[in-house]
Amino acid sequence: MDLLKINLNHIAIIMDGNGRWAQDKGLERTAGHAAGEESLSRTIHWALDNKLKWLTVYAFSTENWMRSSDEVEFLMFFNRDLLIRRRDEFNELGVRFHFLGDLEDNKIPDENKVLMSETEELTSSNSKLNLVFAFNYGSHNEIHSSIQKFVNDNRNEVDLNSVSNKFRNYMYIPEMPDPDLLIRTAGEQRLSNFLLYQLSYTELMFFKTLWPEFGENQLNEAAEEFSKRKRTYGNA
Ligand code: IPE
Ligand code: IPE
Ligand code: MG
Repeated sequence: MDLLKINLNHIAIIMDGNGRWAQDKGLERTAGHAAGEESLSRTIHWALDNKLKWLTVYAFSTENWMRSSDEVEFLMFFNRDLLIRRRDEFNELGVRFHFLGDLEDNKIPDENKVLMSETEELTSSNSKLNLVFAFNYGSHNEIHSSIQKFVNDNRNEVDLNSVSNKFRNYMYIPEMPDPDLLIRTAGEQRLSNFLLYQLSYTELMFFKTLWPEFGENQLNEAAEEFSKRKRTYGNA
């Protein structure tokens, strides 16, 4: 499918169902996160093969800190291990990494912070695919921090009419276009604090498939379904 022709520029994915996948197999929940790595790799390759420009994946939410300390520790370890093992491979394929979230939070281990900023730097001149890792991301936090920065910068000349023009410049990644398509796996039909501002006119698709089972077939199906949707943005 020619994604350019169908105006599919940015896909965002809520990668859900790792824990259930593992539990169904009698394994620890963390085994499901490990298994999700291959689905992510398949998805990145599909995006490159189909010349998608932006792919955003929800890797860890601001609410995920509430999980057991074992699971949180595993996820922190897993996210840095993934970068260490695979960033060169994706760098060579022309992938530019971005990290979306409250990356200064004290809860994030320093090693993760260093790896994320090194990976952004390493891949900063790539342009085939922008891969956005939403990490310690929560839409409420993003909106609140944007308001704080906006108010700070505009203290002396608060022109409230300019809010709508300037607000985007204060979001975590101002140059990130709004997603055209949001996919959530594993059957839940909710946003879980993901990109609430940016998803205003995004097409939503929900798959029953658990994230570790997700791949090219579902992505092709999603693109096909997207090509049939009529986006009117409030127009008749
Ligand atoms: C998504 O899978 C991955 C993260 C939230 C990190 P879950 O871990 O939420 O899996 P389920 O929803 O419990 O099956
Ligand atoms: C959303 O999934 C967060 C990520 C996929 C990283 P959750 O599994 O945490 O969301 P809820 O609890 O089902 O809403
Ligand atoms: Mg879940």
